[in-house]
Amino acid sequence: MVPRERPGRYRVAVIGPGALGSFFAARLSRVIPTTVIGRHTVEVPHADWVIVLVKAYDTPAALRTARRMKPLGIVSLQNGLIESVPQGVTTAAAYREGKRVVPVATGSTLLPPGFETLARYLCRAGFDARVVRDIRTARLRKLLANVCLNPVTAAFGVRNGALRKLPYSVFAEVLAEEAAPVLAAEGLAIDPKAAIRRVMEVARATAGNRSSMLQDVLAGRRTENDHLTGALLRMARRHRLAVPTHAAFHQLIDVMEQGLESSGQRRI
Ligand SMILES: NC(=O)c1ccc[n+]([C@@H]2O[C@H](COP(=O)([O-])OP(=O)(O)OC[C@H]3O[C@@H](n4cnc5c(N)ncnc54)[C@H](OP(=O)(O)O)[C@@H]3O)[C@@H](O)[C@H]2O)c1
Repeated sequence: MVPRERPGRYRVAVIGPGALGSFFAARLSRVIPTTVIGRHTVEVPHADWVIVLVKAYDTPAALRTARRMKPLGIVSLQNGLIESVPQGVTTAAAYREGKRVVPVATGSTLLPPGFETLARYLCRAGFDARVVRDIRTARLRKLLANVCLNPVTAAFGVRNGALRKLPYSVFAEVLAEEAAPVLAAEGLAIDPKAAIRRVMEVARATAGNRSSMLQDVLAGRRTENDHLTGALLRMARRHRLAVPTHAAFHQLIDVMEQGLESSGQRRI
């Protein structure tokens, strides 16, 4: 039986008052009672639908909070493969500039089955949102773009559009070629050539953007390396497939992060 929505609660709670969480919460609150929950919120209200938008490595704590809200459903719109909660994908984008959140795009948001009501709220708030039956395919397609764009842009300090041109295109293409058989083994119908085309298309469509990993590196923050490239490495190991360039970028980003942490300095 599908539980009915109850009154006297927030319709939506967004966990993670960062760039994307604030963007979603600000728009949703114009059309529906919405709350946004930060790291140190003591009194957690009840809510019907919870959207998790913390960085991937903060997911366990966010989920503990989410469950206290007695929701009808919890959905992650984070990057990286999150297996502990239903996960959608979004191409909405925003970034932080000091204390200000700058919206970049409302994009398109795909949700797993069961989140039809939330999709309706998101549409009313101006997001292009819908439920798709095969959400895993959408998640793997997003992972492909993430594992090819993020490490290269972060390592070289370039915007997404740079990946379409030499010398960066060489790295993006090799990463796409290596990722394709792994993602195919996971169920995404894609060959290496199609993977390259897809990555180049995302680089074109988001040419002016700084990837989230580049933003994290520039701000001296921890990246989602382990949930992006790390997730692909774990899949590759499971399927006994070689992904040496991904492994090299994984290590490189790791070293960059450790360097930033130990020196306390920004790279650029
Ligand atoms: N930004 C984008 O355009 C974009 C686009 C697509 C997907 N995503 C994905 O969306 C997720 C969020 O990204 P973002 O850019 O919005 O990150 P962000 O700006 O770093 O925001 C994350 C927020 O979560 C808060 N937080 C951490 N742990 C928490 C907890 N246990 N409870 C409540 N709040 C907590 C953080 O607080 P502190 O500041 O105290 O750490 C921060 O305010 C990531 O997985 C990212 O890859 C982002």
